[in-house]
Amino acid sequence: MHTSELSDAGLPDVDILTRMVNQLFSALPSSASGELPSAALPGVQAPVGLLPGGFPAGAPDAPISATLAVPESFGSGLPLSEAAPQGFGLPTEAQLQERIAPRAALQQTAPLTAGAALFYFLEPERVAEQAVSSVVQSKFSGFPSPVPNPLAVVPSSHGSDFLKVGAAPAGFGLPSDSELLALLTPSQFGMSAAPQRSGNAPFYFLRQPGVQVPGWPASGLQSGTGAAAFDINLVRRDFPILQERVNGRQLVWLDNAATTQKPNCVIERLKYFYQHENSNIHRAAHELAARATDAYEGAREKVRGFLNAASANEIVFVRGATEAINLVAQSWGRQYLGKDDEIIISWLEHHANIVPWQQLCAEKGAKLKVIPVDDNGQIVLDEYAKLLSPKTRLVSFTQVSNALGTITPAKKIIDMAHDVGAKVLVDGAQAVSHLRADVQYLDCDWYAFSGHKVFGPTGIGVLYGKEALLNETQPWQGGGNMIKDVTFEHTQYHQAPGRFEAGTGNIADAVGLGAAIDYVNCIGIDAINQYEHQLLLYATGLLKTIPGLRLIGTAPDKASVLSFVLEGFKTEEVGAALSRDGIAVRSGHHCAQPILRRFGVESSVRPSLAFYNNCADVDALVSSVRRIKSGRNSAPH
Ligand code: ALA
Repeated sequence: MHTSELSDAGLPDVDILTRMVNQLFSALPSSASGELPSAALPGVQAPVGLLPGGFPAGAPDAPISATLAVPESFGSGLPLSEAAPQGFGLPTEAQLQERIAPRAALQQTAPLTAGAALFYFLEPERVAEQAVSSVVQSKFSGFPSPVPNPLAVVPSSHGSDFLKVGAAPAGFGLPSDSELLALLTPSQFGMSAAPQRSGNAPFYFLRQPGVQVPGWPASGLQSGTGAAAFDINLVRRDFPILQERVNGRQLVWLDNAATTQKPNCVIERLKYFYQHENSNIHRAAHELAARATDAYEGAREKVRGFLNAASANEIVFVRGATEAINLVAQSWGRQYLGKDDEIIISWLEHHANIVPWQQLCAEKGAKLKVIPVDDNGQIVLDEYAKLLSPKTRLVSFTQVSNALGTITPAKKIIDMAHDVGAKVLVDGAQAVSHLRADVQYLDCDWYAFSGHKVFGPTGIGVLYGKEALLNETQPWQGGGNMIKDVTFEHTQYHQAPGRFEAGTGNIADAVGLGAAIDYVNCIGIDAINQYEHQLLLYATGLLKTIPGLRLIGTAPDKASVLSFVLEGFKTEEVGAALSRDGIAVRSGHHCAQPILRRFGVESSVRPSLAFYNNCADVDALVSSVRRIKSGRNSAPH
């Protein structure tokens, strides 16, 4: 561009910009039909979005100058001024700085992960292209949405053969064919050898017997199969937040019972949804409505498989486990419970499995009974048997205690309840990330869990219910989606699950939950369970050696949780001191006051494990607690 083509403000006029953008588009890789795939190029209407892609690869590392790096074919550079007129869509220098900073940071901190291969399209023919797309994204990401990456994620169904990278003009900062190929070599995935693959199994994970991954040859859900080991170092690299530094230390995330961290495939799946599929579901006849509906219903099917439910109609999307339990209380409970009916819960319950039943009992005149636990924190089955009677209408209990980690004898509890004709709700919020949840085996009537506890997004959860039971229950919320027909006199409801999904649901996060389930399936819940069990034993053994540390909850059957109190220290002091060392644990009552009081405390410190934790995390915890106990200061950063 010649300086004569610039205005006094150092900016080109609209015609020149338009010409440049058109040249830019025509130089981009085209689809087979010769048209730009719209999904791949959402920036067509927003030229500003293309600017970051115009940076040569090294640009972010260099101090930003007052020159935008416009590809050479368009001239030598576009002088940038803060005086860019509004409406041009050009970013200000400050905005550019903001966009570039994260990219520079990303290049320093985010290694290319093997998880890149484990993208949300788990279909064999797409693995390679998704790996490539994530490589490409790793070059460009760090730019806030909606900056489009013209190369990223062009599903073949959208009419493109993916990247015609060779056609990209030099200087765009786009990787060449050979660069992409190099990026796909095993060493770039942090592996010394080619990924171990069995048949069409996803990269680097050994194929798990019994794991069903949509799009892969089905092996069916078989319980009791042995699981192969997974590589903890590779797994950790799928969770970008584990690279985070807090208080000058590498984050050690041991607050998994409160919420779990998200793998790249979940994060990318959400982004993809909003970039290419976002629409309301069911109610429209257009393409995006179809994509969003497919994605949402696809997620429902993934949940069905994950829980081994008989039908996807048994899977109701809700906000989380709390909402699921409230739904049962407010719909089935209000419809079927009456005066002097009895509800049994256990002493281990989270407030979410206590309060809704108290409210229901207060309204209906029903009675709440509580199964005691022993001094290890396990349910006393003999006492439970004494509470059961023909008056028992419902038993609602947790499969894993959030405060103690106790794994309850769920199958036994359910069978005993059914023997007296009671219905059973299982709170699976703390179980789903650690144990195989097989609702047909358990034979529970309802099962509730939250997506965010199983590596999915917050704000999405699931109520499983037996289909006939759901259909004989009146909905608890009225509105759109849940009706078949409405007149002023009468409304006809849908069958389940629609009758319980009034209004626009959390579509994107349901889809994200589906991606999380794919991820868990790829590793294998049995492998997760075995690994975590060893880690729990390791951590328990070490914590027990700390003088003055008392573990709360020592049942032989435990998952993930290591609640403790430390003599001479308030639990919040311990939590804060651990946080200064970069270690995240929860300290407090964990929304389970009755069970902590059963052990004579009001609060505890609660480290909790997930499969991406390792012995180094446990060592860091133990040495930090030792140091707190000894009154020494943190080691210098
Ligand atoms: N229920 C969650 C916990 O136990 C929040 O921390």
